[in-house]
Amino acid sequence: GTVVLAYSGGLDTSCILAWLIDEGYDVIAYIANIGQEEDFEAIAAKAKAVGAKKVFVEDLRREFVESTIWPAIQANALYENVYYLGTALARPIITRTQIEIAKRENADFVSHGCTGKGNDQVRFELGYYALKPDIKVIAPWRIPAFYERFPGRPALLEYAAQKGIPVVQTAAKPWSTDENMYHISFEAGILEDPDTTPPPDMWKLTKDVLTNAAEKPEHLTISFKNGIASKVVNHDTGKEVTDILDLFLYVNELGRKHGIGRVDIVENRFIGIKSRGCYETPGGTILLKAHIDLEGLTLDREVRRLRNEAGDKLGLVLYNGMWFSPERDFLMAGILQSQKYVNGDVRLMLYKGNIVIEGRTSPNSLYDQHIASMDVTEGFHPGDSEGFIKIQSIRLKAFAHLRSKFE
Ligand code: ARG
Ligand code: SIN
Repeated sequence: GTVVLAYSGGLDTSCILAWLIDEGYDVIAYIANIGQEEDFEAIAAKAKAVGAKKVFVEDLRREFVESTIWPAIQANALYENVYYLGTALARPIITRTQIEIAKRENADFVSHGCTGKGNDQVRFELGYYALKPDIKVIAPWRIPAFYERFPGRPALLEYAAQKGIPVVQTAAKPWSTDENMYHISFEAGILEDPDTTPPPDMWKLTKDVLTNAAEKPEHLTISFKNGIASKVVNHDTGKEVTDILDLFLYVNELGRKHGIGRVDIVENRFIGIKSRGCYETPGGTILLKAHIDLEGLTLDREVRRLRNEAGDKLGLVLYNGMWFSPERDFLMAGILQSQKYVNGDVRLMLYKGNIVIEGRTSPNSLYDQHIASMDVTEGFHPGDSEGFIKIQSIRLKAFAHLRSKFE
């Protein structure tokens, strides 16, 4: 049969490619460009050299930013309050095209290089089954014939040498990473002890605020339409960017330079294991903060509360690999509705890891300076608040009375 393999060019998926061929499959190597720093031509050449029948390199960056990154920011979706979901956001984008290739090329099988302990196997496979219910999945790291043969890196290296698979001679890093244009993750290896501080040279996408972040602050205006950034102006350089992909990449670049977006957490994987992860999400951290700020001016209080609940739920849906699900459709419909009035400008300053909000305006602001002002009494009767407080206190008084009987 024919199998479409999600291929990264690394040691694991290269050995998987060769192993699938040994097992008698025709292998199509599929390389997804989701903005990770890689030489895609070199990876494609490597896949061919290892024996792939066909190789497809797909530039999915625009789809990534439009289809999952912005919906997540519109929802202010974070996992367990801190993780920006960078890996989880990329998976639906990768699986969608992988399944399109499988359909187009009449492949009955798809394969990936995820371990049997993580979230990614779940995300890939739930995506596959949702998009092509009759697809057959080959997950080598869960097949005894594979993992017993390759119990560690030395066995993979030996097989690579035997198969003539070129191995990039960089010293193996003592952690594992997953990179795309939204973020990079670091897990495993020396990071498995949650009390081990990551070495400064681990971080890749952001400058260190203590040593090499920019010395000068930069001032931006980020304009939003329906909760999506439509323009960024840098007041220090005069640069203006409007295209959705260019804008994202530009804000990313600024975040990197100013050391913004590092996170170090212990999280709960879907399958129930606790895991320590470090992440860098430079642009996403800036855009999400600006987005939240503009919502202060433009979102109705109750809509905001409901959207926060939906956003929190969306984070879970994404994390757990349920992007292609009816609950995602349901949540997104409400989240998009909430963003109808999230239009306007946020001014902010970036400096040594900080995002300092400096002001905001909106053509459809709900803020009424006249009502809010401490100086005027017109349009609002302070006396009305007296009744409001009395009514609110009824249940508190009743409870105080009850409590006094037991203490
Ligand atoms: N823990 C993060 C998540 O579940 C990052 C996973 C990184 N994946 C990887 N294959 N290295 O989203
Ligand atoms: C993996 O297990 O392949 C990486 C970690 C994860 O998916 O959570």
